[in-house]
Amino acid sequence: MNLSVEEFSFVSELVRAEAAIVLEQGKEYLVTSRLGPLAKREGFETLGALIATLRQNQFGPLREKVVDAMTTNETSFFRDITPFEVLKKTVLPDLIEKRRAEKKLALWCAASSSGQEPYSVAMLIKENFPELATWSLSFIATDYSKEMLAQAKNGVYNQAAVNRGLPAKYLVRYFEKHGTDWQVKQEIRSMIQYRELNLVKPFTGIGRVDIVFIRNVLIYFEPEIKRQIFGKVHGVLKSDGYLFLGGAETPLNLDDRFVRAAAGGTVLGGGCYSLKGEQK
Ligand SMILES: C[S@@+](CC[C@H](N)C(=O)[O-])C[C@H]1O[C@@H](n2cnc3c(N)ncnc32)[C@H](O)[C@@H]1O
Repeated sequence: MNLSVEEFSFVSELVRAEAAIVLEQGKEYLVTSRLGPLAKREGFETLGALIATLRQNQFGPLREKVVDAMTTNETSFFRDITPFEVLKKTVLPDLIEKRRAEKKLALWCAASSSGQEPYSVAMLIKENFPELATWSLSFIATDYSKEMLAQAKNGVYNQAAVNRGLPAKYLVRYFEKHGTDWQVKQEIRSMIQYRELNLVKPFTGIGRVDIVFIRNVLIYFEPEIKRQIFGKVHGVLKSDGYLFLGGAETPLNLDDRFVRAAAGGTVLGGGCYSLKGEQK
């Protein structure tokens, strides 16, 4: 179905107001392809009927479902691989050394989508840092999308999803068959607490963390929103902690308190940042 100019601008303003996601002109196809199926599921005859209902009552439960459906949830296990190598070779060994006395580490994955990213980190920890089993490890994973959070909590993935980026040895060790799909074993699922968190809102309940992953989500936001999010990340990240961004994301010209993380004079790469003056 075709969207009128008014319908498209209504949906894009709503999505921007609720979750800061920018839908530029030309993205009408995204609205029809994502909200068409939602309209059907919700019992509307047409997408136009869903939008008309939403216009009458913008703040009802349909609002969240529409915004949820408009989020882009593309993800995969060990996405881009380098951040996970940096985490394994430098970031975790450094933090383990620094926190050896208190034996506490806090991680936050701030746009966890269907869970592949936090599970990749959890498996990496289990596989390579057995000593952390006796530490107090807090690992929070959040997302705007209730639908993605439900999928992530379940930890069930089809064959195509486990074929994307997951090393075979991890599939064998940390997954079990679930019909024709695969489910992440309870020992890994129980390492992560999933919660709803809209990055546009205050970061309540996150506490102070050692590592933040906020990858491949800032790309959807305008510079002012990104700047505000960097400010809030700065507020929760410990002064010697690390921030991981997606490959197309940078704090450059937005928040100069974050700099590319380095060790022994070498930049780590993998979208890894630390706070100015804290490089090793
Ligand atoms: C493209 S996925 C990235 C997933 C994962 N971090 C990765 O790099 O593979 C972007 C995620 O950001 C979430 N998202 C979008 N806007 C958000 C917001 N305002 N607050 C929290 N999460 C949001 C979406 O629901 C989606 O799951």
